[in-house]
Amino acid sequence: MSNNSDLIEHLDLAGDFIRLRLGDRPIPKLAVVLGSGLGPVADQVTDPVVIPYTDVPYFPESTVTGHAGRLVIGALDGTPVVCLQGRFHLYEGYAAHQVVFPLRALGRMGVQAFVLTNAAGGINTGFSPGDLMVITDHLNLSGTNPMIGSHDDALGPRFPDMGQAYDPEFQAVTHALAAELGIKLQQGVYTVLSGPSYETPAEVRMLRGLGGDAVGMSTVPEVIACRQMGLRVLGISLISNLAAGLSQTPLSHKEVIETAARVQQDFVRLIEHLVPRLGATLG
Ligand code: HPA
Repeated sequence: MSNNSDLIEHLDLAGDFIRLRLGDRPIPKLAVVLGSGLGPVADQVTDPVVIPYTDVPYFPESTVTGHAGRLVIGALDGTPVVCLQGRFHLYEGYAAHQVVFPLRALGRMGVQAFVLTNAAGGINTGFSPGDLMVITDHLNLSGTNPMIGSHDDALGPRFPDMGQAYDPEFQAVTHALAAELGIKLQQGVYTVLSGPSYETPAEVRMLRGLGGDAVGMSTVPEVIACRQMGLRVLGISLISNLAAGLSQTPLSHKEVIETAARVQQDFVRLIEHLVPRLGATLG
């Protein structure tokens, strides 16, 4: 990124490309970022336009190991939605401003709200693997921020307020819906480290001492970028495992994916019904 006027131009060229692919379909007001093992939500999208990230101009280029991902744009339960199946992570070597590029492009296109999902380790000893947690707040311990660098008012304020980063109305709607569907929901503070190594038990004790309930490697840069633009955010973590030191088994990505697969049905059901409810709150 040589300067920020280039960034705005690149965001809008990416947006123009996506709009062109949509043809005369509506631009959704709501987007859902699908975390590890949660991609199958996109299979429920009806009549989708599928756009691989590699097709979109100025989207970050995927790393060798990274599974690039795609936009799946259509409707869930009749409500227009963009699903981002796959995301860019700091641990893949992307700068924070690259991680958030797709969200900024969609925000400038007219998306008003993001549901950000992830798999996370449970720090709160009341949590069990397979629980879903509504994120109430976060601790940014990633060491970076997507707004670092030159500033352009076109993206929002230089020093955005993060006092209510996670939309209180969205949280309330989610809790009410989960109760109706009989899906248990936890809530808590999401902490982020860069990864990709999992935490040490000492780090997990530190995070608990700081007020963390779950730990992961994503989502926070995206929340910051969304809030700068004034976009509304809901965060949901799937507690895929107990964080380091809380169980006898070593942590593995396999466990994360297996737990996600086990609770996928509830997760898909929740998101499917949530999209129209959240959509109804948007202007
Ligand atoms: N730590 C960090 N990130 C994670 C974890 C964890 O225990 N589980 C899933 N993502």
